[in-house]
Amino acid sequence: MYLIGQACYTAKNHGRSLMLDIIRCGNHTLLTAVNNPLNIQQDWFAPNYWQRKDAIIAEKKGRSTTWFFDYSGGVGVLRHYWRGGLIGKLLSDQYLYTGLTKTRTYQEYVLLAELEKKGLNVPKPLAAKISKNGLIYRGDLITQAISNAESLLEILKNRPLTLAEITHIGQTIADFHRQGVFHADLNINNIMLDNNGKVYIIDFDRGRLVSPSHWRLKENIQRLHRSFIKEKGRNGSFFWDVKQWDQLIRAYQDEL
Ligand SMILES: Nc1ncnc2c1ncn2[C@@H]1O[C@H](COP(=O)(O)OP(=O)(O)O)[C@@H](O)[C@H]1O
Ligand SMILES: [Mg+2]
Repeated sequence: MYLIGQACYTAKNHGRSLMLDIIRCGNHTLLTAVNNPLNIQQDWFAPNYWQRKDAIIAEKKGRSTTWFFDYSGGVGVLRHYWRGGLIGKLLSDQYLYTGLTKTRTYQEYVLLAELEKKGLNVPKPLAAKISKNGLIYRGDLITQAISNAESLLEILKNRPLTLAEITHIGQTIADFHRQGVFHADLNINNIMLDNNGKVYIIDFDRGRLVSPSHWRLKENIQRLHRSFIKEKGRNGSFFWDVKQWDQLIRAYQDEL
């Protein structure tokens, strides 16, 4: 069987506020920055494509695999959308399609672009792909890798955070909350620290903008607290205690 290259075209009406191009290729829709400056094609979303080029520089295995690849110009991070929980066991990576802008992939891509524009510390979104098949879709997202960064979980297994780092973490969460950014899963895997002490928040699947006074923002803080406690319980060495949580909350509240 021969694979025939699909003709792609850029939809005339750009996405909300002209931040993205919507490129249609058969059953697939690609989202990229306007005019697709990196010339991202469908094959960017296939780990095999980067493997063949010997361009995979790392893989992270959690519930699923995240691929880090070198695209001559930078490092991209490719993540496929997988379902969690009980439904995930049956439907794995399939979601009900009710319109492009309703897909989790579209929503995360657009939210990241908006947050980046607001000057918040998030990974830059490079592209997203939504593949539709009848009533279902599958999704993938590519972000720019945050260089020389580790998650709080990775760090705390090896050393405690300094007071300056804890303060930056509290302040960074407050920066997001002052702008009404609700994160659907704020845990210590989704907060990263680079080697200049800059704090990033990642993984905005199901995140959204709410009013800065919205009660749900408190859930982020409670979720984060539970995540420190849970990881302390399950990791032999974990450099974290109550005093540090108090410092984080103080920095958060001072900045709010
Ligand atoms: N842009 C990025 N730069 C650096 N590391 C990243 C980036 N995006 C994801 N990662 C790493 O990959 C892991 C998984 O990515 P994430 O977006 O949190 O997906 P999920 O939690 O759904 O697997 C993160 O915990 C982080 O270590
Ligand atoms: Mg995550």
